[in-house]
Amino acid sequence: MQTELLPVSPASLEMAGELIRSGALVGFPTETVYGLGANALDESAVKRIFEAKGRPGDNPLIVHISKVDQLAPLIAVEPSPAAKRLMDACWPGPMTLIFPKSNLVPSAVTAGLDTVAVRLPGHPAARALIDATRRPIAAPSANRSGRPSPTTAMHVLEDMDGRVPLILDGGPCEVGLESTVIDMTGEIPKVLRPGGITPRRIAELCGSAGVDDAVMRPLKEGEVARSPGMKYRHYAPTGALTIVQGEADAVTEAIRNLYDEALAEGKRPLILALDGHLPAYADRKALSLGDGAAGMARSIFARLREADDIGADAIFSEAVAADGLGLAVMNRLGRAAAFHIIEV
Ligand code: TXA
Ligand code: MG
Repeated sequence: MQTELLPVSPASLEMAGELIRSGALVGFPTETVYGLGANALDESAVKRIFEAKGRPGDNPLIVHISKVDQLAPLIAVEPSPAAKRLMDACWPGPMTLIFPKSNLVPSAVTAGLDTVAVRLPGHPAARALIDATRRPIAAPSANRSGRPSPTTAMHVLEDMDGRVPLILDGGPCEVGLESTVIDMTGEIPKVLRPGGITPRRIAELCGSAGVDDAVMRPLKEGEVARSPGMKYRHYAPTGALTIVQGEADAVTEAIRNLYDEALAEGKRPLILALDGHLPAYADRKALSLGDGAAGMARSIFARLREADDIGADAIFSEAVAADGLGLAVMNRLGRAAAFHIIEV
């Protein structure tokens, strides 16, 4: 299959909508990461997503809508007052809500679960694509399963060339990390995957918010993941990734030592550092993670891909505090490192 890469335009959106209606897959931008979209109501189109990604069949997809009134047909309940407050305040935006599903949603989308995840994305091109398709769009991140999520159209092309007919290029993603996934089926909203909408913001809006305790640790043996995506090694570069956290001077010193040891052992080490710390690594090979949690959110997946391109086999990364957006950053980085974290 020939893969076309086109900038977002009225014509390319029409073409993309037509392709999705016909059962094909299209890569498209959202404000979080690029998605791989299919008609959410077409079971065989949805199955193509799992094939193209190499995704395990037990990991459910998010259904994307362009207007709040498209939610009702997909779910089996009336949204709670808390859900309505979240939707009013955070949609369009980087937030996914989980509800009991209606019969309209094929079980391939939800991997057999009786709940469905729904998101109304903030990126205008994503909403325009849903409008052009006139269907809800099921879309995971547009990476091959296990690879870092794509934050540019080129990343999608790297992973999906020859597997999809069309990728829409809407430039780099603004948030850079996937949406906050919130389970709305219990007493209080519960964050299953942290993202741009923070637990504090959810608690402000709803009075309380829980965070699944598997967010900052690996699953225990035999433990059932609340969000099936949590059990897979995700976002991972090929090289061994180690996170070093602590006070800035201690971190830069520890990373310099780890880097020099790795080099002496004949490895190809690489440092991922916050912008302001780069000078501390002198002429060692280091890539910038930008500034603070927001900079790191935008850059982390691209840097993990570059680490692979360079062939780095020992990667040492700085950290940010795991609160606010930093919780989402450290969740992704932690999982990419299989939670190999050194405290200094
Ligand atoms: O920002 C995003 O959410 C991006 C863009 C494209 O919208 N999409 C995305 O999809 O990250 P994906 O498939 O890579 O991640 C979806 C996550 C997975 O961890 C999955 O297990 C979880 O949402 N999920 C989906 N449906 C669920 C459900 N019914 N119950 C629990 N977790 C669910
Ligand atoms: Mg994903």
